[in-house]
Amino acid sequence: MSKPKTRCIGILTSGGDCPGLNAAIRAIAKMAMGHCGMKVIGIQDGFRGLVENRTILLDDAAVSGILTRGGTLLGTSRDKPHQMPMGGKLMDMTEVAVENARRHQMDCLVCLGGGGTAKNAYRLWQKGGLNVMTLPKTIDNDVFGTDVSFGFDTAMSIATEAIDRLHTTATSHHRMIVCEIMGHRAGWLALQSGIAGGADVILIPEIPYDLRVIGEYLLERRRHGKRFSIIAVAEGAKSKAEAEVEEIARKEKEKDKERKKNKDGEKKDKEKGKEKNAETIEAEAEARALGVDEARADLPLKVRKVEDEVLAYHAVQEPMASRLARQLQDLTGVEARVTSLGHVQRGGIPTAFDRALCTLLGAKAVELLAEGRFNQMIAYRGGTCVPVPLEEIVGQRKIVPQDHPFITAGRGIGSCFGDR
Ligand code: F6P
Repeated sequence: MSKPKTRCIGILTSGGDCPGLNAAIRAIAKMAMGHCGMKVIGIQDGFRGLVENRTILLDDAAVSGILTRGGTLLGTSRDKPHQMPMGGKLMDMTEVAVENARRHQMDCLVCLGGGGTAKNAYRLWQKGGLNVMTLPKTIDNDVFGTDVSFGFDTAMSIATEAIDRLHTTATSHHRMIVCEIMGHRAGWLALQSGIAGGADVILIPEIPYDLRVIGEYLLERRRHGKRFSIIAVAEGAKSKAEAEVEEIARKEKEKDKERKKNKDGEKKDKEKGKEKNAETIEAEAEARALGVDEARADLPLKVRKVEDEVLAYHAVQEPMASRLARQLQDLTGVEARVTSLGHVQRGGIPTAFDRALCTLLGAKAVELLAEGRFNQMIAYRGGTCVPVPLEEIVGQRKIVPQDHPFITAGRGIGSCFGDR
C-alpha cells in the first residue's frame, strides 16, 4: 500500500444516537490506526465538542470491546456549528470549529450522522475549508443517496418484535392496539416493521389517512371474525386534513423565508464596513430557531436559565398514537390501547446486519481518506459501499415513494394504509 495521504482524522457523532455508532467508530479507528498509521481523535458530543475543544485520543484500548455496545462512546448532540446556543446567545461558531480541527492537525473530520449532520459537515467544508467525510446513520432510514443507513435494521427488528408481542395480547383481549413507531418525516420504519410484523393498518407521513377509511376497515375485519387489530403508525403520520393545513403552512413559511432573505440582504448592505465577529442574536427572540433540529422542528423549544447555565430543550412530545386510538375507539366502539415505542428503538445492541454495515462503511471511508479523497458520504448501494459527493445529497431526504414495493405488497395482502 502506498503512503496514506491522511495522517490525522477527527471523528464525531451527531444527531440522535442509534445502535451501530460504536461499531462504526471502531471500524474507522481500527483501520485508520492499524492499517494506515493515522492518528485518530474522538470529539465529544458532536459539533459542540469540536467548538468547545473537547476531544479524546482514540487508541486501540478505547475502541476495543465496543462492537456490540449501543449508543455512542463519544456522546452526541443536535448542535450545529453555524447556529450554536452559547451562553444564551445564538452564535456562528464555524470559525472556532475549523480552528480547533486545525489545532489538532486533523486532515479530515469524519461525521457520523443523518441528513442534518451531512448538511453541517458540508457547511464546514464550504465555509471553513475543512475536509469532511460522512457516514449515513439514522433509524429513520431517510438519508438521501444510500439504500440504507446504519441503525435502521436494529430499530426495525425492535419495532417488529414489539408488534409480534402486541399481537398476542391484542388477540387475547379482542382489542385494537395502536403502536407508535419513530419517523417524523419518513415512514420507512413503520412501513417495514409493519409489513414484517403483519400489522393490519400501517400509517406513514407519506400517505395521509382518512379516519373513516380506517374505521370501516377495522369493522370489516370484525365482520370477518377478526376481533383484534394492530395499527402501526409513524409518529409523523397525519390525516388528510392535517396534510392540507401543513401544505398551506409550508408554502407560507417559504414565502416568509423569501421575505426574510430580501430583508437580510438590505440589512447586510447597511452593516457593511462594521466589524463582524461571530453573529450574536438575542436568545429569547431567536428561541424558535435555537438549535432546532429537523427531526424536532415541529416541537416548541423552551429556553430556561438553571443556575448559571442556559438550557434549551424541546418540549416532551405526546404520542400521536393516543389521539388516534381515542378517535378510532369512538368511531368503531372497539376497545383500544396504545403503545409508543419511543427511544427503545434507539437503544441496545446493533443487529448483525448493522454491525457488518458499519464495518463496511467505516473501512471504505478510511480507504478513501488514505487516498486523500474527502467531502463524500459513504453510501451503501446494491450491496457495496460507494462514495457520493456531498453536494449531491445535502438538503434532500429519502422518503417512501407512493409506489414502493412494500406498499404495493402490503396493499396486495390486504393491509390498510388509511387512504382507500
Ligand atoms: O432522527 C431520528 C429520530 O429518532 C426520529 O425518528 C425522532 O423523531 C427523533 O429522532 C427523536 O429525537 P430526540 O427525542 O432524541 O430528540
